[in-house]
Amino acid sequence: EAPPVCLLLCVVAAGAMPTVPWRVACPPRCVCQIRPWYTPRSAYREAATVDCNDLFITSVPPELPEGTQTLLLQSNNIARLEQGELGYLRNLSELDLSQNSFSDIWDFGLRNMPQLLSLHLEENQLSELPDGSFPGLGNLQELYLNHNRLRRIAPRAFAGLGSLLRLHLNSNLLRTLDSRWFQMLPSLEILMVGGNKVDAFQHLPALHRQTVESLPNLQEISIHGNPLRCDCVIRWVNSTRPRVRFIEPQSTLCAEPPDLQRRHIRDVPFQEMTEQCLPLISARSIPARLEAEVGDNVALHCRALAEPEPEIYWVTPAGVKLLPFGDDGKFKVHSEGTLEIRGIAAREAGLYTCVAHNLLGADTRGVRVCRDPRGVCFLPGKGAWLGQPGLKSSSYSLGRPPLYPAPGFPWN
Ligand SMILES: *[C@@H]1O[C@H](CO)[C@@H](O)[C@H](O)[C@H]1NC(C)=O
Ligand SMILES: *[C@@H]1O[C@H](CO)[C@@H](O)[C@H](O)[C@H]1NC(C)=O
Repeated sequence: EAPPVCLLLCVVAAGAMPTVPWRVACPPRCVCQIRPWYTPRSAYREAATVDCNDLFITSVPPELPEGTQTLLLQSNNIARLEQGELGYLRNLSELDLSQNSFSDIWDFGLRNMPQLLSLHLEENQLSELPDGSFPGLGNLQELYLNHNRLRRIAPRAFAGLGSLLRLHLNSNLLRTLDSRWFQMLPSLEILMVGGNKVDAFQHLPALHRQTVESLPNLQEISIHGNPLRCDCVIRWVNSTRPRVRFIEPQSTLCAEPPDLQRRHIRDVPFQEMTEQCLPLISARSIPARLEAEVGDNVALHCRALAEPEPEIYWVTPAGVKLLPFGDDGKFKVHSEGTLEIRGIAAREAGLYTCVAHNLLGADTRGVRVCRDPRGVCFLPGKGAWLGQPGLKSSSYSLGRPPLYPAPGFPWN
């Protein structure tokens, strides 16, 4: 039952292996064929393919042919894959679930498929990737997560993907690129992180030298469409030891500093820059005014860029220093700089200071938590940084004893 479609494809693919019917019990409405297939490393193969694209199905068809190597389920309404549901497809090397309805990675029950090389999850609605999101895919070479709604990727989300060559994270809602993601991906060659536009309260995503240099095999990178800070933070662009090639340099533009706005990254005078720079807290990361009721959970954001990458901590009105990853039940500082206050009390009003520091110095910015008849309010203010001797920093003296190191700091 070779359809006429095959005749056409046979002509087009002349010289290569023609598409031929694969005579198996094919699921209803799907097409089963032997098709030309290229591995992520461009090796040619013939792949037993089950094509169930564009069928508006809400679950993966049962009893797929056991020898399936490529399973195409693009443009359907699948939101869930049961744990181990595809485990019987021992030869599956490519799975395409792009343009489906996955919103939670735990609904994606793909476990222990060491034969899988290529996984397409682009154009779904994933918003978060927790640690260990892709267990048992130790030979995966290509992972497509572009055009989702990813805001948060945990530091060890990609644990176990030691063979991954290409990672597509473009067109998501990422605010930071965490160097710890890449520690899990020693083989990475191509990284696509363009198009992660950020809104006014967030900061510019930066890719630090440290991150780039932790990827010894990196060859190509796409960061276009991200508002870039084109100063020493991105100076590695012109000085990485193995040269990293930019995909689409014509649309990789600077958003900061002001004198380089709209300039192409390739026209930036990198040679005139210093290798390192002081932290700069993005003014846009701190809200102009934020109101809360007593008892509310409140998040104060603080984002900073510098080279080397800065560390961020907060100082409470009582002078207590709150370090990243610390969590005492009341205050929690997230690694990217957000201070979370759980159930804020009226007595916790006062000046909260964000400090971003690296070996060159520090920048500070304060948020004044005021008492208001209606509850608690937050106003931006000057930081309470009193400076460490020898540090170049923007320092404001409030006439209080130095906060650094903070007395009675309760946790690390
Ligand atoms: C899986 O691939 C191997 C090696 O190509 C082959 O011998 C085997 O028959 C395939 N399994 C199935 C179920 O088709
Ligand atoms: C790096 O700088 C050199 C000049 O020193 C220039 O010719 C080259 O185009 C620059 N490369 C990039 C990627 O900016």
